Amino acid sequence: MERTFIAIKPDGVQRGLVGEILQRFERRGFKLVGLKFMQVSEALAQKHYAEHKERPFFGGLVAFITSSPVVAVVLEGKGVVATARAMMGVTNPLNSPLGTIRGDYGIDIGRNIIHGSDSLESAEREIALWFAPAELLEWQATL
Ligand code: CMP
Repeated sequence: MERTFIAIKPDGVQRGLVGEILQRFERRGFKLVGLKFMQVSEALAQKHYAEHKERPFFGGLVAFITSSPVVAVVLEGKGVVATARAMMGVTNPLNSPLGTIRGDYGIDIGRNIIHGSDSLESAEREIALWFAPAELLEWQATL
């Protein structure tokens, strides 16, 4: 089954949006298979954002994601990579439609609340970077 990686960034945690964001994904029908509250190391931040290394905002990006705790999430479900991206909105919250996470809660491109993998390949890479295999739980609903 398809999986994606989501990070609720320091601004999402600081603004008390963790429950709201997880609830949106749970209610949509996606399944939690990984979840942890963590301080991001400089090394992890550099690897995660490697594709932006040459961008002028790279230093600020790494400084921000390592500045205070984040919530790292792995979600599973049909089409979860694209649907989670659609639920998040676009990179700049000002261009994100109302009803999306960034459109409802953000105004600043550098403080856009949430990260989500942009492709199946990125999801695979990011899940392996952020989670050890034993931290991903296989489970079935029994209710
Ligand atoms: P994210 O989806 O986590 O991936 C890269 C991040 O870089 C992006 O969210 C934004 O937070 C950030 N970003 C992209 N463009 C800019 C920019 N022009 N200025 C500052 N931050 C940016």
